[in-house]
Order: sequence, then structure tokens, then C-alpha cells
Amino acid sequence: MTNPQSPIPNPGHSVAVYLARHESKSLLRFITCGSVDDGKSTLIGRLLHDSKLLLDDQVSALESDSRRYGTQNGEIDYALLVDGLAAEREQGITIDVAYRFFDTARRKFIVADCPGHEQYTRNMATGASTADLAVVLVDARKGLLTQTRRHSYIVSLLGIRHVILAVNKMDLIDYDQVAFERIAADYRELAAKLGIDHVHCLPLSALKGDNVTAPGERMPWYRGQTLLGHLETIDTAGEREERPFRLPVQWVNRPNQNFRGFSGSVASGAIRVGDEVIVLPSGKRTKLAGVLNPQGSADFASEGEAVTLTLADEVDASRGDVIASATHPPEIADQFAAHVLWLQDAPLLPGRSYWLKIGARTVGAQVTEIKHRIDVNSQAELAAKRVALNEVAYCNLMLDQPIAFEPYAGCRALGGFILIDRQSHATVGCGTIDFALRRANNIHWHALEIDRKARAASKGQQPACLWFTGLSGSGKSTIANLLDRRLHGMGYHTYVLDGDNVRHGLNKDLGFTDEDRVENIRRVAEVAKLMVDAGLIVLVSFISPFRNERRMARELFAAGEFLEVFVDTPLALAEQRDPKGLYQRAREGKIPNFTGISSPYEPPEHAEIHLPTAELKPEQSVERVIARLIGEP
Ligand code: ADX
Repeated sequence: MTNPQSPIPNPGHSVAVYLARHESKSLLRFITCGSVDDGKSTLIGRLLHDSKLLLDDQVSALESDSRRYGTQNGEIDYALLVDGLAAEREQGITIDVAYRFFDTARRKFIVADCPGHEQYTRNMATGASTADLAVVLVDARKGLLTQTRRHSYIVSLLGIRHVILAVNKMDLIDYDQVAFERIAADYRELAAKLGIDHVHCLPLSALKGDNVTAPGERMPWYRGQTLLGHLETIDTAGEREERPFRLPVQWVNRPNQNFRGFSGSVASGAIRVGDEVIVLPSGKRTKLAGVLNPQGSADFASEGEAVTLTLADEVDASRGDVIASATHPPEIADQFAAHVLWLQDAPLLPGRSYWLKIGARTVGAQVTEIKHRIDVNSQAELAAKRVALNEVAYCNLMLDQPIAFEPYAGCRALGGFILIDRQSHATVGCGTIDFALRRANNIHWHALEIDRKARAASKGQQPACLWFTGLSGSGKSTIANLLDRRLHGMGYHTYVLDGDNVRHGLNKDLGFTDEDRVENIRRVAEVAKLMVDAGLIVLVSFISPFRNERRMARELFAAGEFLEVFVDTPLALAEQRDPKGLYQRAREGKIPNFTGISSPYEPPEHAEIHLPTAELKPEQSVERVIARLIGEP
């Protein structure tokens, strides 16, 4: 403890003042993007060096590396400071994005250095999703390139509203003002189209240091700020404080019977103890009883803080719920229009089911319609049936349950999502919600008076869906038809849904591309479900080549109601039988996308019933299914 009367200055004082100042400095998160050779690494290296942010030993290592490996005739090669990371990245050592932390007397910075190539779009999206500003680099000799357009599009898609266009390498065009003004005008036009509201264009030379941290004496015609000057003074916070309070619950903290807190980061707005809050999607209202933050107990929580909230009433809330201002609650919906950026080799297929993670909630989701694809280079809207790697599309999405959300433009945490493959658990896409297509509460499942139990009882049977999958010519339809006759003869109420037949009616608009097969299975699965609801035993006989859609079908049914029957016929045998002569025509190249030949078949891993038809006659297969369905006679 210090004695305030003491004449001896407190030696800790200046440190404490320094730390306090440091704490209160604002933080700017930004990304740098540019094409190869725009001089991005040199620029970041120069920024760190000239703002005296490097330690002495880093500077001497840089000097000696520059002599040995540099590209600047022994002069300091600033690119070496950052390019080490690029080399690691090539070898797959560095993860997604290289983040660097630095600070000046006025501000703290986190910069994400995003590689420029199209194959790194994923990294760029990751970096951009948390940034407030982007430094877009162009080479003064080249002006705007395709890459510049792509980067700027992704920057705008991910909600960055401030761009600094750094026109680099001015030294190579003799600091030509006219050339600079032309590039600046081109970029302003692009930014206006993309809805990027705040653009600063500045001419610089990262190599010579002009306008990086000190004004470029060789460009007296430029009177604006340096790059660092901009970074230190730009105000990106805007109207942040006025946004309503939202906290996605990450974790329910319940150490004992007496305490229950809801932990997470405040996604937007602020809240005070005593304020009325609403828990969504349940809609329960209560008051904020307390706030715990890393410093202890507080009576206030605001955007960006990681806190635990306690509520006045025993309200049930779990991970993924949202605690929000009761006076300005977010919307609840299960259908959205959204932009999706696809990040996986295998394309996005409408109708396929993915996991969607938003805030702290994970739900099932499918794209119900691709409105259009967007050519990221020209912003043209193009018709599309699928979305390929690194493409962006405007889509309608449907979730399997309603969620609380915000349009991305209003709140990134509650409007931005990722899509996850249900089998590999890999992140396959990311997206931003635009608006809800319908409020979840407007259309209710109509509760029918005669329920499925009653319908099943009147038929005196346990309804079920028997899902036959296998190659064309494997014997699915033969077995299903025999089984149908047997069950019918025994008095059961059955129906057969056969691929060839359904494709003549309900699905006659569908072909055999991957996306059409996904839709084919989605529709027939929904029909089968209605038939099971009606009390029937449904025999579905479709190739259904993809695990993903068979799983989607399975998930429509209650446990035990869905039995996957793998009609396991080796390709060679199916081809030898070739009942419809299709294999031969496919081999001759006359049928594209033929399953087993030019389109994949993914065999089931856990089918309830396995029928190896090379060993079993169709009648024996039928016996096996009956034994499983109704037990041995
Ligand atoms: S699925 O793959 O979408 O499940 P579905 O079972 O509806 O296929 O239809 C398969 C039937 O369509 C085959 O038995 C065959 O008669 C016929 N067919 C025509 N073209 C193809 C093709 N390219 N691939 C597979 N089957 C085809």
C-alpha cells in the first residue's frame, strides 16, 4: 500500500499509468488483402519497423536476413518479416490466418494478413468476419485487378464498411498524381456498387516508406493522412452502443443448487442490472439480477465483454439460446434469405441437409433454393443449380427449428453462420443472413384430430418405412415387389414407391445430376413419411446413392420406424444382369452420370438389413426382411 502523504514517488506509478492508458486505448481489427506482388508483406513489415514496433534483436535479425536472402541488394527487405509465415503456410504449418498484434501510443491493432489467391478465400473470409476495416492493396502500375474486385466483394459481404485503398509502388510510376487519381476513381465506383460506405484512397511506396508512417515528400500533391495516421484515427465504432442487447448463451454455469448463471460474450448493446430481458426462442421474460465479469461482480455489461449473467426468475435457458433486451427483442424464424460462400470441393446441393451453426446454436439446415450465383469478379447474377468451391450464391435456407437471429448487417454474431458437413464435420461454407422469409410463428403444423396412432391402430399394424438402396439392376424392385405381395397376402397395408415409377410423375422434372438425385430422395422421403403417418408399411425402392440423403430420410422417422435395406449386388454382377440394357449404353457413353459407372454409389455403413444378392435368391431375401419386420412366424 502506498501512503498518499509519502514524499517518495511510487516507483510503480508510471507503469500503472502506462497500463491504464494501454487498457483504455481502442482496438482496431483490420485485414490486409492484395494480390501476389502488390507488396503486402513489405507494407506490413515497413509499418511495424517504422512505427518502432520491432525489438532490437528482430531488427538485427532482419538486417542480416536481408543481406543473405533479401531481394533489395542488401538493403532491408521488409517482406522477410512477414513472409516467414507464408513459407510455413505453404508447408501447411500455419493455420488459417496469420494474426499480428501491435500497438502505438494511440491505438491497439490486430491485423489479419490474408493470402490473396482464390484458393485462400476461406482464410480471407475468416479474417474478414471479425475485422472492422480492410486495407486493400493495388499496384500503381496495374490498377484494379480481378483479385481486387474479388477481395472487395468478400470484404463487403462480410460486413466491413471501411476500406483503405493503398495504391502501392508509387515510386515505380514517378509518383504520378493523375495515375493515382484514376485508380482511386475506379475504386470508388466499385466500392459504391458494393455498398462500402467509407473509402480512403492513399498513394504510397512501402519500399521507400512514403506515406506509410511518415508523409511522402515526393508526393506534395497528396495532403491526406499517412496509412498509420488513418489506422490510428478512423472511427469504426459508429452507432455500436445504441444497438439493442444480445448475448448468445455459450454455457450454463451451474456449480451448485444455489447458483445458475448464463455465460457468453455480449454480441451487441449493453445491459444493466434490473433491466428486463427475454430468453429466446422460448420467449420467457425476466429481469437481469447480476453480472459477473473477470474482475468480479458488476452492474453493467456491454458489447464485446465475456460475462456471466444471473436472472431474477428460474428461467430455463440452455446453450444456444439468446438473452436479449425485452424491449427490442430479435426476430425468430426458421427460413431465411442469405448469402452463402462455399468452401468445399464437393458442391453445395439444394435439398441436402447440413448443420448450421449460428451464435452458440447448431441446427439442421438445407438450402431450399439457389436464387442466383454471384460472379464475384463482376457482381453479375447468374442462374445456378449448385454452388462450387469459392463461389457465392444468394439462397433461401430452411432450418429444422426456429432460432433468434439478426440480419448480418445489424449484428455479425447473430447474423453470420457456418455450414458443417454432417458426416465429416468439416466446415463447408459460411454465410450471412439477409432477412427472414417468414416468421416461424405464422404457420403451425396443423394438429390433426385423428392422429397417427389412431390410423395405425385401425390398420392393426406397426407402420414402417423399408428403404431399399442399391445399384441399378441390383434387384431392389424385384425384392420389394415380392415382399409387397407377401405382406399384402398376410393382410398388411402396404405401398411401394419405386424410383422408375415416381420419376414418371411427382419427380418427372428431375434428372440424374447430383443435385437432382438429392431432390429426388428428399421428395420421396417426405412422401414416405406421410404414408407412414397414414399408418402404412412403405417400401421405398430407389438407388439413393448418397449416404447423406439416406440419413436425411432416416431422420424424418421415429426410432425403429425406418429400416435401411442394402440390396448388395457387386457392380460386375449388376452389369452382367443388366435387365434394362442400361449398363451397356452407359459404357458406350450414351448415358451420363450413370450410377456405378460415372456417378458414385456410397454403400450403407449400418443398414438394418443386408441382402447379399450374389448368395440369396429374391425369395430368400424376402424371408430375411419379413423375419426382421415381424419376427419369425
Ligand atoms: S436415384 O439415384 O435418384 O435414387 P432412382 O432410383 O430414382 O435413382 O432411379 C434409378 C433408375 O433410373 C434406374 O434403375 C434406371 O432404370 C434409371 N436410370 C436412368 N438413367 C440413370 C442414371 N444415369 N443412373 C442411374 N439410373 C438411371
